[in-house]
Amino acid sequence: MRKKIEELEAKIRRLEEELGKTKKALQNTKISCFPCIAKENKINIQDRLFTILDCLPAWIILLEPGGCIRFANQKFRQKFGNNLKKPCYLLLKECSQACIYCPAREVVKEKVPFEIEFKTLDERVYQLFAYPFKDIDGTDLVLELGIDITEKKMLELENIRNHQLAALGEVAASIAHEINNPINGIINYAQILLDENISSHISGISEKMLKEGNRIASIVKNMLLLSKDTKGEKKEFSLTDILYDTLELLEPQFEKEGIEIKTEIHERISKILGNQQQIRQVFLNLLTNARDALNERFPGIHPEKWVKISAQPCCDHGEMMTRVIFYDQGIGVPPERLEKIWIPFFTTKPGNKGTGLGLSICSNIMKEHNGQIDFESVYKQFTKVSLLFPANLKD
Ligand SMILES: Nc1ncnc2c1ncn2[C@@H]1O[C@H](COP(=O)(O)OP(=O)(O)O)[C@@H](O)[C@H]1O
Ligand SMILES: [Mg+2]
Repeated sequence: MRKKIEELEAKIRRLEEELGKTKKALQNTKISCFPCIAKENKINIQDRLFTILDCLPAWIILLEPGGCIRFANQKFRQKFGNNLKKPCYLLLKECSQACIYCPAREVVKEKVPFEIEFKTLDERVYQLFAYPFKDIDGTDLVLELGIDITEKKMLELENIRNHQLAALGEVAASIAHEINNPINGIINYAQILLDENISSHISGISEKMLKEGNRIASIVKNMLLLSKDTKGEKKEFSLTDILYDTLELLEPQFEKEGIEIKTEIHERISKILGNQQQIRQVFLNLLTNARDALNERFPGIHPEKWVKISAQPCCDHGEMMTRVIFYDQGIGVPPERLEKIWIPFFTTKPGNKGTGLGLSICSNIMKEHNGQIDFESVYKQFTKVSLLFPANLKD
C-alpha cells in the first residue's frame, strides 16, 4: 500500500514538472515572430468569440450610459430586431425616455453589478444582470445579460398554487366531514317525513329539503374530489361524469350571477385515459373564463348571459376522438390579443382576479393527454374553446 502511494506521488511530481515545462514553453513563444499566424489567430479567436456569444441562450448587450446599444448578440437581435440605433428603453419598453430606475445608469454610477427581473412587452419574464464594463476605447459601458425565466417563474407559481391548493384541500376535507354528517342527518329526517305520508303540503316541503340536501352533499363531494392530490396518475374515466361534476360545483355561483348553463352532451361519449383532477381543472378554468367574460360584457341580467357546453364523438384523421366545446357570448378577445392569451401570466383581469396561468395550464394538460385545445373569438361577439380528446378505444 505504502509503495503504491509513493509510486503515485512520484507520478504526480513528474506530471507537475511536465506541466511546468509546457507552461514555460507557451509563455516563451513570441507570437510576434510569426505575424501572419498571429493575425490569423486573432481573427479566428474573434470569430469564435462572436459565434459563442451568438450561440448563448441569453441576450447580451453592451450599453452606453445613455442607453444606446454598442453591441448586441444574435439572441437580442432576433427578439428586438437589427435596428440597434434605437436606445434600449425604446427597443425594450417602447418608451420615449429612459426608465426612472435605469439599471445601466445605476451600474455606471455605483460601479457594482446589478440584478433585476424584467417583463418585456410580449409578457416574457427576464432575469437581467448588469455589470460595469470598460470598452477598449476606455469608455465606461454596461454589460447586460438577459435570461428568459418565464417557464421557471410559471413553474414556481404553479408550485405555490399547488401548495395553496393542498392546504385548501386539507381545510376543505375537514369542513366537508363536518358538513357531511349533519347534512346526511337532514336528508334522513326529510326522507322519514316523506315516508310518513303526511299532507301533500308538508311532503312537498320535505321533497324540496331532500333535493337541496342531496345537492349540498354532492357539492361537498365534488369539493373533496377537486382538492384531492392524485400526483398526475392516469386512469380510465368518463368525461361526461367529470363535466357534470364540475358544472354542479359551479352552478350555484353561476345562478347567482344570472348565468345560464346550457348543455348538449351526446349520450355515447367514450371514456378517456387520463388524470381526472387535471381534466377537472381544465373544465373549471374554461368555465370560469366564460363566466368572467359574460360578466364583463353583461354586468347585470341579460338574455344572452349563457354558456353552452357540448360534447360529441368525432373522427379526426381517421382516429376516434371526443370534442368538447365551451361557447359563450361574453366580451371576447380582440384579434391583436389572440396570440397573447396563451402566454403565462397574461391576464386582462383586474387586481388579483386573474393569474394569467389558466390557459397555459390547460394547454399543457391537453398536451399531456395527447389532446388539443383551440381558441376562437370575435371581440364583443363570442368565444369558442374547443377541446379534442383521444377516445379510449377499449370500450
Ligand atoms: N372565454 C373568454 N372570453 C374572453 N376572453 C377570454 C376568455 N378566456 C380567456 N380569455 C382571455 O385570455 C386571458 C388569459 O386567460 P387565462 O390564461 O385563463 O388567465 P386569467 O383567467 O387568469 O386571466 C384572460 O385574461 C382573458 O383576457
Ligand atoms: Mg382563467
